[in-house]
Amino acid sequence: MIIAIDGPAASGKGTLGKRIADHFGLAHLDTGLLYRAVARALLDAGRPLDDVAAATLAAERLDVESLDENRLRGAEMGEAASVVAALPMVRAALVDLQRRFAGRPEGAVLDGRDIGTVICPDAPVKIFVTATPEERASRRHRELVRRGEEVAYETVLADIRRRDARDAGRTSAPLAAAPDARLLDTTDLDIEAAFRAAVSIVENMTASSLRAG
Ligand code: DC
Repeated sequence: MIIAIDGPAASGKGTLGKRIADHFGLAHLDTGLLYRAVARALLDAGRPLDDVAAATLAAERLDVESLDENRLRGAEMGEAASVVAALPMVRAALVDLQRRFAGRPEGAVLDGRDIGTVICPDAPVKIFVTATPEERASRRHRELVRRGEEVAYETVLADIRRRDARDAGRTSAPLAAAPDARLLDTTDLDIEAAFRAAVSIVENMTASSLRAG
């Protein structure tokens, strides 16, 4: 069973993806980490983020097994990832790797921006997780403060709005809900309620895909 979870920055899709994967005994890939790793490789090599050749090479050389999450988290890396993610060559270089991950026999949970639309358009379960920019900003702000980053809420909100605009406005695989995705608005839900809602969406969509065929 392939479960595609998409949504904007800080919508809760990463946490939900992990919990859903644990619940159904599936592997989980946070595809945002791939774009973050490409951005990290460029920054480490002292290259600008719009160096298409270097970014494509970094994407082609990426190894899913050796992603160092600690070096990839944080607001600065999210912003840098959003810039390299707008490069069509980088996106193209990461397609096979994501589809291979999704293609394991038991299936997998993938979360990102284009999983239901581009990477796994035939996934039987697609969830588009949203929340208002203000709610997402306050969650992200709390998370950053917990990590020891000193940043104002207004800065985080401006960052989220800029990321939304870039991720949804790019020409290559923009952030969008697939027409057959179920919308999950987590603005007024805590993580437990969002998790229960997501489980019930998975169960409903699996049942209807079995009925269909
Ligand atoms: O989910 P995240 O915040 O870790 O993602 C970081 C950036 O990577 C995001 O702003 C856009 C990009 N991204 C993407 O374009 N496609 C994906 N499937 C996942 C992330």
